Formats: sequence, C-alpha cells, structure tokens
Amino acid sequence: METTPRILVTQKVPGAAYILLEAAGTVEANQEEGLIWPADELLRRGPGHDYIYCLLTDTIDAPFLEACAGATPRLKLIANMAVGYNNIDLAAATRLGIAVTNTPGVLSETTADLAFGLLLATARRIPEAERYLRAGKFSGWGPLLLCGAEVHHATLGLIGIGRIGQCMARRASGFDMHLLYYNRHRLSTEEEARYNLTYVSLDELLQQSDFVSVHVPYTTDTHHLIGERELSLMRSGAILINTARGPIVDEKALVQALQSGQIAGAGLDVFENEPAVEPELLTMEQVVLVPHIGSASLQTRTLMATMASQNIVAHARGQLPPNILNPEVLR
Ligand code: DGY
Repeated sequence: METTPRILVTQKVPGAAYILLEAAGTVEANQEEGLIWPADELLRRGPGHDYIYCLLTDTIDAPFLEACAGATPRLKLIANMAVGYNNIDLAAATRLGIAVTNTPGVLSETTADLAFGLLLATARRIPEAERYLRAGKFSGWGPLLLCGAEVHHATLGLIGIGRIGQCMARRASGFDMHLLYYNRHRLSTEEEARYNLTYVSLDELLQQSDFVSVHVPYTTDTHHLIGERELSLMRSGAILINTARGPIVDEKALVQALQSGQIAGAGLDVFENEPAVEPELLTMEQVVLVPHIGSASLQTRTLMATMASQNIVAHARGQLPPNILNPEVLR
C-alpha cells in the first residue's frame, strides 16, 4: 500500500517552499521564525520522516542519521537549503543509503555581491566612517580623514575558483583589478583568459595579493587553510575577505595578525564558531563583520528554498533529484 510521504522542515523558510512540499506529502514544519531546534529536539522530531528539509545550522550527524534510518518510515533524503553541506555527515548518509541534496548555483551572484561589498567596505572603511559620522565627529572635510586602501588596479587573490569565485572575478575585472587564483584544479587556458586570471600557488597568492578572498567549501582539507603561517605570508596592507565558511580561517590567528598589524583588515560574513564571534574582532575598527548574509536577498533565498523542495519532490516522484550529492545511493 502506498502511503503519503512524511516531510519535516526543520526551520521557517520562504513560503514558496511549502507549496511544493505540500503537493508531495504531509508536511510537519517548525514555523517559529529564527528558532533552531537544539540537537536533542531534532533527534526527537526527525526519525519517522521520509524526507527532511534542513538548513546549514542543523547538525545532521551520524547518530541522527542512524536514528532516522532505523525508524519507520526510513529516511530517504535530506535536502539542505544551502550550497555548503558541511553540516551533514555525507559519508554516514551514503553508508546508510540516504540521499543528500544541496542548492548550488542560485546563490553564486548574490554571495559574490556580498563578498565584493565587504571588500569595498573594508578597503574604504565605510562602516567605520559611518560610525564616525553618526557619532557626531564629522567636523569638515579633511585631507587625511579616513583614508583607506585603493581597490581599482589592486591585486585580488581568489582562493577557490568555483561558481562564486568566478562571479567574484567578474566583479573585480570591472574594477581593473589584477587577478590571481589558487585552486585544487587549474582552469582551462580559455577560462583563465576569460577573466585574465593567473594561476599561482597558495603561498604566492598570499604574498602577492592586496586582497585575499576565500571561496572554497569547508572540508577536513580546508580546515584552517588560512592559519598563522598563511597570515604571516600576507602583505602588511592586505585585507582578508571570507564569505565561505568560518573554520577555513583560524579565527584566533586572524585576531593576532590584525592586532600585530601583520595584515590591515578583514571583511567577514562567516565565523569559526557561529553565531559566536571572537570578542576581539568586535572591537576592531579595521574589521567589517556581517552575520552570514552572503545569499540573503529575498529572491535568492526563495530560489534556494524552492530548489531544496524540488529535490524532495523529484525523489517522491521516483525521479533523480537534480542536486544530488551522493547519486550512488539511488543506483
Ligand atoms: C550556503 O548556501 O552554503 C551559504 O553559506 C548560505 O547561503
């Protein structure tokens, strides 16, 4: 006997997502804005669903997946409403035969907008200047008032040249920036020529760049990819931008590099222990901090939300989910 799929949505998401899900099964959803279920509550609610729609702030680890795989109905698919999926133990899901999907592509331009915005804001000290003005300190134009770093014609080093890295390169070429990149795999000559990108080693990139922007996924290989040694290679006037994942940068080492003047500034959208932020960062004028809003435009979040639903709907219809990360479980 066919039964209606049971779908759990772990957090409140844009409305368009539910319309698709409700046509595919019975939906149980956390509708409290901003409420993230703690691990024990997620473990209490998760098992017994065919599909779980989750967010990057939900930890989907092996014990949780095992509980979901052992329940009735057995969990079939986890749809993450994010491109990054370091919150999910993909290896455990694959071992248990649970499909995992993400939302690539739809947020690349929006995230690159934010990354470039952080670069400009940090270089030109925009938040600091605004704080200064709002504090009533602006007493007239000054030749040395709030002078920042030049962005046009400066050298930008891109660590990672996937979709978001390439969107960043396009933005930077509009500012006549010189572009270096480091990536596990080198691009083709045609791709490099398209954005005038020069391939270098990570150390060369750090030594030669005025701005370093991180665009790699977070994995065990990229944990603390930027640590004390890497920061020590950067130019004294350099600025680090991170819109990827916090733990790619050793946040304590970053604080030290900023305090000692080893580097000039940082623009950060992501943090090592989100939502906690190293307290020293909060006191530094040369650091621009925003709360993980890289993809936060209503249009993009709606696209991400519906894309996650479409993966569930496709599986429920017996089709291959378009954004499956472990297709081997469905073979
Ligand atoms: C992602 O999708 O991985 C971003 O960090 C959130 O937009």
